[in-house]
Amino acid sequence: MVGKLGHPRPVKPLLLDESAAGELLTLQRAAFLVEARAHRNFELPPLVETLEEVRAALADPACPVWGVREAGRLLATVRLRVSGEAGEIGRLAVVPDRQGEGLGRALLLAAETAAPAAVTRFRLCTGERSAGPLRLYAGLGYRETHRSPEADYQLVHLEKPRAAGSGEHR
Ligand SMILES: CC(C)(COP(=O)(O)OP(=O)(O)OC[C@H]1O[C@@H](n2cnc3c(N)ncnc32)[C@H](O)[C@@H]1OP(=O)(O)O)[C@@H](O)C(=O)NCCC(=O)NCCS
Repeated sequence: MVGKLGHPRPVKPLLLDESAAGELLTLQRAAFLVEARAHRNFELPPLVETLEEVRAALADPACPVWGVREAGRLLATVRLRVSGEAGEIGRLAVVPDRQGEGLGRALLLAAETAAPAAVTRFRLCTGERSAGPLRLYAGLGYRETHRSPEADYQLVHLEKPRAAGSGEHR
């Protein structure tokens, strides 16, 4: 992975457990505030999720949650929920002061690689006003499948087939 300044950025995602619940909640609330403002919706799931719900997600073996740490600090996170052959990616977030360095892209790619072998396609969704994430997903091969109404905007649903040859590396 090469960051914006051209420096190599090796990313080593770790599987997070319940002990990370507090910092995960802090990270997602800080990161998703921009999306909330863009969509004038402060009830976004990552913002209203409770500490107990975050703990439950971290304890759920069907929903691996990865994080990237640097000097102990949690910088980025992503979740995967396996639903049949589909891997549903969610809660991709990078701390505000480290966005734009390549962490988000690297972590999303790492989650795809780590998905169980049964997963043949990946799905995710984002708000229609999320220009940054939409560019990121398009660049990684995600294509829009449909839109669904949410408050006064649309949720954009995207999907991509798993690249042949990739498997489970957890
Ligand atoms: C979206 C997010 C996870 C991307 O992570 P990141 O580390 O900042 O992004 P990267 O540095 O890996 O950038 C990858 C690509 O994303 C796109 N992108 C991401 N954020 C962008 C922004 N604010 N404006 C424009 N493009 C953006 C670009 O295409 C970029 O590639 P480029 O630099 O070659 O043009 C991060 O910005 C974030 O946490 N945002 C708030 C939460 C959020 O919206 N999560 C996704 C919800 S579905």
